Amino acid sequence: MAMDYDKVFNDAIKALQDEGRYRQFADIKRRRGNFPMATHYDGRTAGGERAADNRTVAVWCSNDYLGMGEHSKVLAAMHEALDECGAGAGGTRNIAGTNHYHVLLERELADLHGKEAALIFTSGYISNEATLSTLASVMPGCIVFSDELNHASMIQGIRHSRAEKRIFRHNDTAHLEALLADAPADAPKIIAFESVYSMDGDIAPIAEICDLADAYGAITYLDEVHAVGLYGPRGGGIADRDGLMHRLDVIEGTLGKAFGIMGGYITASTNLVDVIRSYASSFIFTTALAPALAAGALASIRHLKESGVERDQHQERAATLKQRLRDEGFPVMDSESHIVPLLVGDPVKCKRLTDLLLHEHRIYVQPINYPTVPKGTERLRLTPGPCHSDAMIDHLIGALKQAWHELGLQRRAA
Ligand SMILES: Cc1ncc(COP(=O)(O)O)c(C=O)c1O
Repeated sequence: MAMDYDKVFNDAIKALQDEGRYRQFADIKRRRGNFPMATHYDGRTAGGERAADNRTVAVWCSNDYLGMGEHSKVLAAMHEALDECGAGAGGTRNIAGTNHYHVLLERELADLHGKEAALIFTSGYISNEATLSTLASVMPGCIVFSDELNHASMIQGIRHSRAEKRIFRHNDTAHLEALLADAPADAPKIIAFESVYSMDGDIAPIAEICDLADAYGAITYLDEVHAVGLYGPRGGGIADRDGLMHRLDVIEGTLGKAFGIMGGYITASTNLVDVIRSYASSFIFTTALAPALAAGALASIRHLKESGVERDQHQERAATLKQRLRDEGFPVMDSESHIVPLLVGDPVKCKRLTDLLLHEHRIYVQPINYPTVPKGTERLRLTPGPCHSDAMIDHLIGALKQAWHELGLQRRAA
C-alpha cells in the first residue's frame, strides 16, 4: 500500500501545534530611516474582510542590535559596490567568486581580533558548522569539549566531524576540568564555547577556560556572535573587552547581528584558516557572499572600530529597560549583557502574550519556546538598542502590564 506522505507531514506539524510551539513568521518590512519601526503585513481576516494591512509596529526582538542595517555609511558602501560589481559574486571562492571586497573584509576581521588571518562564510551558522566539523576531523582522535548550551550550529559541526564529544555543564569550569583530566593526555582537544549566551544573556568565564586549555593542551574555539560590534574598545567582543583575544585559537563571529548585514567568519592563525579554507565542504562548494554584502560589512566594522557611541547607547538602553521592568515587578531573568529575557514559563501563554502585544499594541516580540530554550522557561527576549526611545520603552511597559494582567500572569508587588 502506498504511504500517505501527507498524513506524515500533517502529524509532524500537528505535534508542534499541540505543544504550542509551532512557529509563525511575522511578515514585516523594516523601514529604513525609521528603525525600529516596521510595516506589518497582517494576514488575519476581520468580519469576512481582510484586516487592514500595513500596520506600523515597533520591533523589540531584532538582532540588528545597533541599527547598523540603516547606517548611512553602510548603505553608501553597499550602493557603491552594487554599482561597481553587480549583484552576485559570480562563483564559489575558488572559481571566479573571490571579489576584492572579500579580501579586504578578511583583512579587516583579522585585524579586529588581532589574528593572522580570517575567513568569511555565508552565515555565522555555516562558519561554526564548517570550522568545527573540519577542525575536529583533521586531527585523528580529537575530543571536543562542548558547553551544554552551545548553539545548534556548533553542535551540528561537532556531530558532522564524527569526533568524540564531551559536554560540560554550562559555564562550569570545575566540570570542564574534570572532563579534561579524564581524557588521554596525548589526544588532540578542542574546547568550544560562546561568550554571550544569547537566550539568557550570561557570559562565559573566558580566562578560566583559557587557563584550562593551557593546562591540558587544548585548542580554544569561541563563538562571539552576540558580542562582536557590541563589546570591547573596537567592537571585537567580550574577549576584546577583557584583553583576552590573544589567548583564543579561534574567534568566530557573524556579520548579521550587530554589524547589521549578513554572513559569518572565523579568525585564527594563518595555518588553521588555511586548513578550513582547503577542507571545509560548506565553505568550498557554495557561492561566495555577494560583494555588496561584503562591502557593507566592511563599512560597518570600520565604523564600529572607531566609534563607541552606538555601544554606549546600546548598554544604556538595555540597563534602562531592565531596571524599568524590575521596578514594575516583571520577572526579568538574570542577564549580564544587553539581552533582556522576560520569563513567561508556558509556551501557550508566551505565544498568546506576543499575539496580544502585536495585535492590540503594535509591538512585535517573537515568543521563544523549546527547543531554543528548555521547556518551562519560555520567554520574551527583548533586544533594546539605540533606536528605541524613552517613549517606546513607556509604551512597551504599559502594553506588557495590560497583556500580563489579561493572561493572569504574576508580577512581584512593586
Ligand atoms: C550563538 C550563535 N552562533 C551562531 C549563530 C548563527 O549566526 P548567523 O545568524 O549569522 O547564521 C547564532 C544565530 O542566532 C547564534 O545565536
